[in-house]
Amino acid sequence: MIVTTAELFKHAYGKYAIGAYNINNAEQTMGLFKGCMASKAPFIIQISKGARKYTDKLMLEGMIRSADTIFPDAIFAVHLDHGDEETCYDCINSGFYSSVMIDASHDPFEKNVEITKRVVEAAHKKGISVEAELGMLGGVEEDVKVEDGAATLTDPAEAEDFVKKTGCDSLACAIGTSHGAFKFKGKQSLHFDVLEKIKARLPGFPLVMHGSSSVPQDEVARINAAGGQIKDSAGVNVNEYLPAAKLGVTKINIDTDGRLVWTRVHREFFRDKPGEFDFRAPGKVYIEEYAKFIASRNELLGSAGQLDDLRASLKK
Ligand code: G3H
Ligand code: 13P
Ligand code: ZN
Repeated sequence: MIVTTAELFKHAYGKYAIGAYNINNAEQTMGLFKGCMASKAPFIIQISKGARKYTDKLMLEGMIRSADTIFPDAIFAVHLDHGDEETCYDCINSGFYSSVMIDASHDPFEKNVEITKRVVEAAHKKGISVEAELGMLGGVEEDVKVEDGAATLTDPAEAEDFVKKTGCDSLACAIGTSHGAFKFKGKQSLHFDVLEKIKARLPGFPLVMHGSSSVPQDEVARINAAGGQIKDSAGVNVNEYLPAAKLGVTKINIDTDGRLVWTRVHREFFRDKPGEFDFRAPGKVYIEEYAKFIASRNELLGSAGQLDDLRASLKK
């Protein structure tokens, strides 16, 4: 069942975080739903601009509607990840999305406010909520690369001002993470001091943590042992998910880790079975391995086991 992102946030805020997982294809979609059902967790499906272009945006909608029928007990929201203004309007007008992210974090503060405000007005007219971003994460997104030195943490006073001025419904904050598999060079920790200050200025307001993959080192080692060349990778400490959730981080975005699962499964499969060419064979392994990974993340986020309580609260 597709619900609003606001309904998920209301249930989770301050207690646990909703896992926000990107999908691009049918195998990822099946693994995601299976893992969330096995761990009885609500979740957010994220669709990036790159995903919308990979096959076709309507293909993604079709897969999600089908998965909703195949897994009737699932409770989830559908969210545009890192949208620009034009893509936000397209999603808002499609009637399919629960929420959109307008990412104008690379623009100066006033321009970010101006763009975000326009998207909020359009979205709220249709009952859709808006995630905005303030501060700059390091790393690579589809068409933006932020060098390490250019990344900036979110300023708590600016965050309060930004939310008041834009009317956005949740805020992606830069608290030390970055996109991709190379997040930390030194100490591997979130800036809880910044998070505490943001929470103090925005009590009860849902915060979002992007770049939250943990980049499991055993996964990377298996990839490299099967011919991969991923060097100096580092991710978020999984034991910091729940403490962040208690400080208002209500949505935690994980994508890179899923790509690592895919890469490990396929590299090992073709290394061990060089004569194989039926893509369904590794595809089946990947679906099961991704489902296991998703369930393990939901346990760490605290969303595992929340489904029945959420369902009861939605009926009230
Ligand atoms: O933050 C970006 C997400 O990992 C989505 O990546 O734009 O390559 O689909 P993508
Ligand atoms: P990772 O690259 O850490 O998985 O972050 C994903 C993300 O923030 C999607 O918006
Ligand atoms: Zn992101």
